[in-house]
Amino acid sequence: MALLNKLSFHEVSFTYGAEPIVERLSFSVEQGEFVSLIGPSGVGKSTLFRLASGLVEPTAGTILLDGEQRLTRLGQVGYMPQKDLLMPWRTITENAMLPLELRSVPKGVARAKVEEQLPLFGLSGYADAYPDQLSGGMRQRVSLLRATLTGADLLLLDEPFSALDGITRMEMQEWLLTMWQELSLTIVMITHDIEEALVLSDRVILLREKPIREIVEVNPPLPRERERLARRHDPQIGAVRQEIWELLQSQKQLARVQGRFA
Ligand SMILES: Nc1ncnc2c1ncn2[C@@H]1O[C@H](COP(=O)(O)OP(=O)(O)OP(=O)(O)O)[C@@H](O)[C@H]1O
Ligand SMILES: [Mg+2]
Repeated sequence: MALLNKLSFHEVSFTYGAEPIVERLSFSVEQGEFVSLIGPSGVGKSTLFRLASGLVEPTAGTILLDGEQRLTRLGQVGYMPQKDLLMPWRTITENAMLPLELRSVPKGVARAKVEEQLPLFGLSGYADAYPDQLSGGMRQRVSLLRATLTGADLLLLDEPFSALDGITRMEMQEWLLTMWQELSLTIVMITHDIEEALVLSDRVILLREKPIREIVEVNPPLPRERERLARRHDPQIGAVRQEIWELLQSQKQLARVQGRFA
């Protein structure tokens, strides 16, 4: 079967004002892949998602979805932003329903669909609560639910589990893997947790310096689908985690030395 690029960046550049964040960056994510992005704070990870989802446009280069340049990418990917952006005046159900409303799904149907999903996201009993009545982790789960309800088969998840406790995080990781397999999704996830990236993904992409010009790829060992979560306990994972750590550290040291002699 020919491999299809779900998302691809071709020579993409982007600047905020005068500050270059991305410079002639090319990379792609194949249909059905689970890819993680790791890199230091401020390097531009979230910016890549804002570009991919169409919230901002590249200053040069092209971004393709399913191999096509679309008039707009807005609403065509399931984007879970780093800040949850829940509307404080809407209940949990009304917040999660938003993508369904945008697709003109009748309100009753949309409400029922959300309510059906709430238990899975650990939100039973909170259907009519407002965002400020929820913990950070619960808000994160509403935001994840909302991203999955866009119906898009490409999900961009910006640190989706960062506010969750260890046990809930592991449950949500397991759920995400199941959903990824059952719905044949393509997932790109930003995380600061090297182990999380190695356990869940097919490929880990390291973004080492700003502006982002190139990516460095690391492939986790043990690619067998069913056994991903068992990777957690595999000694080979420890070795790869060390490799990633060193790759990120060496860049930091280089930046420090360059700063000293600049
Ligand atoms: N709206 C904005 N206007 C101007 N500069 C911005 C804006 N948003 C982000 N930046 C700058 O762009 C750079 C990349 O930000 P981005 O949010 O993409 O980083 P990140 O890798 O996601 O960091 P973190 O891991 O902390 O979330 C930073 O230097 C940041 O200050
Ligand atoms: Mg970010």
